[in-house]
Amino acid sequence: MPEWLENHDYKPPLNTLDCPWQTGVGTDLDFFGWHQANPVQGERFNAVMQGVASEWKTPMDLYPVQERLIDGFEGGVLVVDVGGGLGHDLQRIIDRDPVPAAQYILQDFAEIVAAAPVKEPITTMAHDFFTDQPVQGQYKDIQNCGELMLTRC
Ligand SMILES: C[S@@+](CC[C@H](N)C(=O)[O-])C[C@H]1O[C@@H](n2cnc3c(N)ncnc32)[C@H](O)[C@@H]1O
Repeated sequence: MPEWLENHDYKPPLNTLDCPWQTGVGTDLDFFGWHQANPVQGERFNAVMQGVASEWKTPMDLYPVQERLIDGFEGGVLVVDVGGGLGHDLQRIIDRDPVPAAQYILQDFAEIVAAAPVKEPITTMAHDFFTDQPVQGQYKDIQNCGELMLTRC
């Protein structure tokens, strides 16, 4: 990092392809691209996310779930976890507040969702979150620990 900062006039990185990460690891790839290209490390990263997430509160511990999501729910997609990794947060949400007939969608890169050990009512969808959201409907954004989830209005 000191080397990268010195070479960039001590300005913060604004481009994921030109960060201390590239200098430190010796790659031209961004963080997630490198983990995809290095599956052993990618698997370890996903396992770490699964582990640390189990220690965090879920967005649903911080949000008025009953009033804002469940009351008046008429079926269909209840939560889309965008960049949801292996699906651990969705599973915790379901375990905490099971909602009959609700559908939950896990989105991430194709390789990640293919490895996700999820089961009904979670379905997976490969999706790059820098592209248009394919799940249509009216959504609220819940920001939690830098992660984004989309939930029903
Ligand atoms: C820091 S991890 C968080 C995983 C999970 N949401 C959690 O809180 O444990 C970021 C996740 O975003 C995914 N991701 C990164 N860039 C993405 C993109 N452009 N489109 C979809 N998913 C992406 C990664 O594969 C990874 O699973």
